[in-house]
Amino acid sequence: MTGQFITFEGIDGSGKTTISQEVYIRLQKKNRDIILTREPTDTWRGSMIAKAIEENCNPLTIALTFMADRSEHVIQIRKWLEKKSVVLCDRYMDSTFAYQTAQLSPYMKNPLEWLQTIHHLFYLEPDITFLFIIEPQKALQRIKRKRSTFEKKDFLERVQKNYVALAKNDKRFIILDASLSIEELTKKCIDKISHIQ
Ligand code: TYD
Repeated sequence: MTGQFITFEGIDGSGKTTISQEVYIRLQKKNRDIILTREPTDTWRGSMIAKAIEENCNPLTIALTFMADRSEHVIQIRKWLEKKSVVLCDRYMDSTFAYQTAQLSPYMKNPLEWLQTIHHLFYLEPDITFLFIIEPQKALQRIKRKRSTFEKKDFLERVQKNYVALAKNDKRFIILDASLSIEELTKKCIDKISHIQ
């Protein structure tokens, strides 16, 4: 596999969607064969996740829907990478590890281990994961639209802690201060991506 797989992670309101879109536009201008994708995906599986959250399904159901979506998405991502594309993905498996660990901890002993074991069946590791770190209170202030069930300060604090713990053990993570300007953050991402080309 010779493409590059780059993921953007962080709590809601951290700005990862804006930066991934900016990076996409800049790399397109450099004539790179580039794909911008996201999770939950824009498919019936993504709609199923939205429905599960809207209907307040239990965290186990929600975790399984996110993973069902990903196991199909990975098949598509592998095809893009085989064509040597640079694939940018706005949220990926670390979202599940950070958010669902926070949600599932009252239900089981070691949710991260359980989630990671399931991922062995469709595991595809990113080359780089940009992790946008921000004060949860500030992140919530940035969210203008109606907030989802995940968008509460205490919950996002736990999610961010989980993200930081994941990043500590893994060199693919690049931690970014999400309070920097869009221009600065975009430049940092482009520099890192160019570095591994
Ligand atoms: P997001 O793409 O951030 O939605 P929006 O475009 O509305 O900002 O994802 C929706 C929510 O789903 C977000 O709160 C994070 C959560 N999420 C998980 O809990 N687990 C996952 O595996 C993924 C991909 C997202």
